[in-house]
Amino acid sequence: MKRIIIIGATSGIGYEVANIYRQLGWHVGVAGRRLERLEAFKEQAPGQIEIQQIDVTQVDAVDQLHRLIEKLGGMDLFLLSTGIGSQNRTLLTDIELATVNTNAIGFTRMVTAAYHYFKEQGNGHLAVISSIAGTKGLGIAPAYSATKCFQNTYIDALAQLAHMEKLPITFTDIRPGFVKTDLLKNDKYPLLMRPEKVARRIVRALNHKKRSVVIDWRYVILVFFWKLIPEYIWERLSIHN
Ligand SMILES: NC(=O)c1ccc[n+]([C@@H]2O[C@H](COP(=O)([O-])OP(=O)(O)OC[C@H]3O[C@@H](n4cnc5c(N)ncnc54)[C@H](OP(=O)(O)O)[C@@H]3O)[C@@H](O)[C@H]2O)c1
Repeated sequence: MKRIIIIGATSGIGYEVANIYRQLGWHVGVAGRRLERLEAFKEQAPGQIEIQQIDVTQVDAVDQLHRLIEKLGGMDLFLLSTGIGSQNRTLLTDIELATVNTNAIGFTRMVTAAYHYFKEQGNGHLAVISSIAGTKGLGIAPAYSATKCFQNTYIDALAQLAHMEKLPITFTDIRPGFVKTDLLKNDKYPLLMRPEKVARRIVRALNHKKRSVVIDWRYVILVFFWKLIPEYIWERLSIHN
């Protein structure tokens, strides 16, 4: 039985991906802060699901990850779906710092732990859900877009490092467009996707061991054009929902 660990699986995209792997018969380890949601998920298939309460912003998060790996009897695929994000036009410092703490510091803590584990094991598949928001700095969500860019670059760097060290670790950077989850807080967004559908695309990309993937094709086009916009013009655009 293959083993996947998903951090940030108590709701949204991570939850839907966990559900698919459960249906596929994998041994699934899930984590997040909301214990009652983890327990409810385990009830669906107690022999197949392991749970661990993990807050990625806490220093003991790595120990908790190792505890979960132990419960699962190992880890073949690691998926980090943890993230927070808010529009922050008034630039409240607390929102910016909390976002950096989860999406950059917590991200680094968990991804480096998974890298070290796979290095020791001699193989593994390390995947993260970043976002298309990392393509450009977004005036309405500075910390969110900046931390997503950080995540993209961090995975690029780890992929190169693994190559330099001749480690057979596979990396997948998943970049969705807008998905109807709690993260969007019922705000209105264009081209909204359902998390179930996004999760199916993610599982397909993971099965094919894709290095990076934008979900879905409409966002592939959008990102292509965004990247072509010169900074001078980008700064003068008013991008909001
Ligand atoms: N929704 C979108 O439009 C969209 C688009 C592109 C990318 N993404 C990315 O997709 C990922 C999943 O987000 P989602 O849309 O599925 O939103 P979501 O439903 O809010 O899921 C976020 C998950 O992250 C977990 N989490 C948050 N803070 C955490 C912490 N400190 N420690 C551990 N887990 C934590 C949450 O669990 P607990 O609260 O139980 O801890 C939850 O399971 C995020 O990285 C997000 O940036 C989302």
